[in-house]
Formats: sequence, C-alpha cells, structure tokens
Amino acid sequence: MPREIGKVGVVGLGTMGAGIAQVCIQAGLETVGREVSDELGERARGRIEHYLGRAVEKARLSPEEKDAALARLTTSTELEDLAGCDLVIEAVVEDLEAKRELFRELERVLAPEAVLATNTSALSVTEIAEAVEHPDRVVGMHFFNPAPVLRLVEVVRTKRSAEDAVEAVFVFAERVGKEPIRCDDTPGFVVNRILIPLLNDCVRVLDEAGVSPEDLDTAMTLGVGWPIGPCALIDLIGVDVHVHASEAIHAALGEDRMSPPERLVRMRDEGLLGRKSGRGFFAYDRAAPDRP
Ligand SMILES: NC(=O)c1ccc[n+]([C@@H]2O[C@H](COP(=O)([O-])OP(=O)(O)OC[C@H]3O[C@@H](n4cnc5c(N)ncnc54)[C@H](O)[C@@H]3O)[C@@H](O)[C@H]2O)c1
Repeated sequence: MPREIGKVGVVGLGTMGAGIAQVCIQAGLETVGREVSDELGERARGRIEHYLGRAVEKARLSPEEKDAALARLTTSTELEDLAGCDLVIEAVVEDLEAKRELFRELERVLAPEAVLATNTSALSVTEIAEAVEHPDRVVGMHFFNPAPVLRLVEVVRTKRSAEDAVEAVFVFAERVGKEPIRCDDTPGFVVNRILIPLLNDCVRVLDEAGVSPEDLDTAMTLGVGWPIGPCALIDLIGVDVHVHASEAIHAALGEDRMSPPERLVRMRDEGLLGRKSGRGFFAYDRAAPDRP
C-alpha cells in the first residue's frame, strides 16, 4: 500500500523550493518550509505571495483561495519543525555533501515511515541515500523550473528505494497536479541526460557557424518547433546552474558533448547568468518576475 502523504516539508526555499512549496499549498497540503535564516524564509513567503497575487489578478485563483493557500505554509529555521511530515522534499544547493548531511539530520528528526525526496538535477540519488540508515525511504523527485508551471516530475528510484516509497511520491505528484514519470537513478535521469548535451551542442554551433543568439533561437523555434529557443532556455535555467549540471553529467558519463562549452564557462565567470542576473545571452528587466 502506498504511504499516504498528509503533511509535507520542503527544505531550501530558493528558486525550486519556493516553487515546490507553492505547488503543495495550492493543492491543499499543510507545508513546512525550512530555510537557513528567518529572512530567507520570509523572502520566499513574499515571492510565493507575489505569484499567488498574480494568479488572482488573472482570475485563476480567488482572493480567498490565495489566503487559504498562504495559511497552509509555515516557515522555520528549525529542522525539528519538520517532525510531523510524511514527505520531505529537499531543494538545497546542488552539493552532494550538503545533501548527505541534511538527509542524515532529517532521518534523526522524522518518523521512520516518512519518505525523503531529493530534487537534485544531476547528482546521484543513490549516493545521497547511502548517507542514511534506511536508504529504502529515499527517492528522487525532480521538479522542473518554474515548478508551479511545468507539469513534469521525474520520480527516480534507486536500486534500494522501497516500492511503496516510490509509489507514494508518484501518487503525491499526481495529487499536486503534476504528470509524473518513473525512471532509474542514471546520470541526468531522462530530461537532463538528453537536454544538457543538446543545449551544449546549440551553444557550440553559435561559434562554429557564426550565428547570433537571436538567430539560433529563431532557427530552433521556427525550424524545429521548439517552444523556446536554446539561448532563452539557458538564460531561464541559469548559466551557472547549467554549467554545474553539465560538469556533473560529464563527470558521470565522460562524453565530450556533456562538458560545458568554453563560452558558457566564461559567461558564468563574468556573472552573465541569465534572467536572474539581468543579463545572459539576452538582457532582462530584473524588476520583472521570472515566471508566470
Ligand atoms: N534551478 C533549476 O532550474 C533547478 C531545476 C530542477 C532542480 N534543481 C535542483 O534543485 C535544488 C535547488 O536549486 P535552486 O535553483 O532552487 O537553488 P537556490 O540556490 O535558488 O536555493 C537553494 C536554497 O537552499 C537554502 N539552503 C541551503 N542549505 C540549506 C539547509 N541546510 N536547510 C535549509 N535551506 C538550505 C539556501 O539558503 C537557498 O535559499 C538543487 O539541487 C538543484 O540542482 C534546480
């Protein structure tokens, strides 16, 4: 029998964690968000409130629904406040040791039947799970950015994940309005295994064929039917996030196409990170919200 998820914890309320928390509270679930400081917790709440407010303006949500959703969110700096959660979704920095340390701490705080999920993009879920005493309770739950908008969730099972933990996360993803798929814990899972080398090829073509970012995006949107051009997509993902994920997948699989192109590494070093820094391949108004 799948475990029933009543209360959810989200650890790390950055880009992904705040989006995931928003998805949970909008689906009617009590959610506890843990950040490293009260200020970061409040900032995340403010961002969620802002996006819910925009949904009200567009008549996708009533003001009462917005207030009810926000009332389901509590934020804390104390891990102990996650104690009653049936599922905790980790969305902290993409660093193996940080995640392993956190999972060890979570195991001490949570009930034995609670499921631990990681939102890692490119790390091994197996290596994260090996940090805890009961790795059968660890599953990958890979949301996409922006989490409230993109419907895919990759539910990643390791060789040691318990079937009922995988199923509980799958059913939970459906309940919060997502379209989950199941896959094994292989580098990059499904989407990033394909997308990362593909985007790196696109960036290499910029220099090889002397194409401007605008023209490359036009080529791939009008010639192939992509909904967004590769340069705009990298700007949305974040150049630093993409470079980091490329390095992790390259380290795991060793194929040249996986390694980040020089041009992207240079952009990362110069702080041209895309939407979040106001400039990447294109320029952005930093005051404008970065997701619908
Ligand atoms: N950004 C994306 O496009 C994307 C997409 C899918 C998955 N991911 C993955 O999601 C995870 C988070 O990415 P992000 O882009 O949201 O990062 P982010 O830097 O925006 O947010 C991370 C947050 O975690 C907080 N944090 C760090 N350690 C913590 C701890 N011990 N307890 C509580 N909070 C802690 C930080 O203060 C920060 O606010 C990473 O593993 C990343 O690979 C990112």
